[in-house]
Amino acid sequence: MSQTQHISAFVDTIWSWYSVHKRALPWRDISEPNDTKRAYMVLVSEIMLQQTQVSRVISIYKRFLEQFPSLSHLADASNADVIRAWRGMGYNSRALRLRDAMRIVQDDHNGVFPKEMCELLLIKGVGDYTAAAVRNFAFQLPTPCIDTNIRRILHRTFIGPERVDGTWPTSDKELLTLADEILQIAIQHPSYTTADWHAALMDFGSLVCTKRNPKWDICPLTAKGICKAAYKVHVDPSAKKKKQEPGREMGGRFIPNRIFRGRVIDELRDAPSGLPLNDIGNRICLDWSPKAHKKWLPTILQNLEKDQLITQKAEQFVLVE
Ligand code: ADE
Repeated sequence: MSQTQHISAFVDTIWSWYSVHKRALPWRDISEPNDTKRAYMVLVSEIMLQQTQVSRVISIYKRFLEQFPSLSHLADASNADVIRAWRGMGYNSRALRLRDAMRIVQDDHNGVFPKEMCELLLIKGVGDYTAAAVRNFAFQLPTPCIDTNIRRILHRTFIGPERVDGTWPTSDKELLTLADEILQIAIQHPSYTTADWHAALMDFGSLVCTKRNPKWDICPLTAKGICKAAYKVHVDPSAKKKKQEPGREMGGRFIPNRIFRGRVIDELRDAPSGLPLNDIGNRICLDWSPKAHKKWLPTILQNLEKDQLITQKAEQFVLVE
């Protein structure tokens, strides 16, 4: 089979799978006619979907858009309002970066969402994937992009399986060239769009071509003999030496500081007049000891202050207004 035939067979197979298995998600097929508003909604979803599961994002996304229905509502919001609306998401500084990005669109682009890659990439917090996602999902401008699902599907289908440590032998730069070649064929479909194509790959990656235990038995690419990794993915989770994130043992389990940071913010959301260090320690740790943790907790609080999530007023810590 030539590369062109391989690509056509892949595209046809993904489209027919998608016609049956397409997921309805609130940030898909947005009927909003205003380009900027649509791009805003797509960006909110993409930032939320970074490191948070789809099922968790759905209700928070809807609530967030009720509170901040447009880019200018979010751009004008205080840190504390944004952090409160982010309840349930974790990684709270993402919320502030999203708000800051909307301030850039407001100030540098007169509140009109830019469409060009180079303009989108100038917005702090918007990287290659996110810029391309906004173009595909909000503006229907065909733009190749690679996220974890797309990388996995393209690599397995056209190149082969990942290494045992889960890493990929091919660079994203090479994969982008392939992604573009495939996209040009995919968008020739009479009714599906570039937004559908990327949604199709993401759905296929979450439901069939999964990271762990890929569903070979129901995979139509495997059935048609067009996947170069079929039954060949053997990832040994212990092979990848994971860089341990900072954190500490509590109750016999290792808890990353990232989780403790989230717990501090959760407590302060519900304490408008703030909490002293000792109360925070008691609320977020089963084993709080002012003596044993006298360096650890203040460091977490200092980092939250540095990220402009919290501030100290007298002896109380509060969310930044
Ligand atoms: N649809 C659009 N963007 C998505 C993403 N990042 N994950 C899952 N579905 C999506």
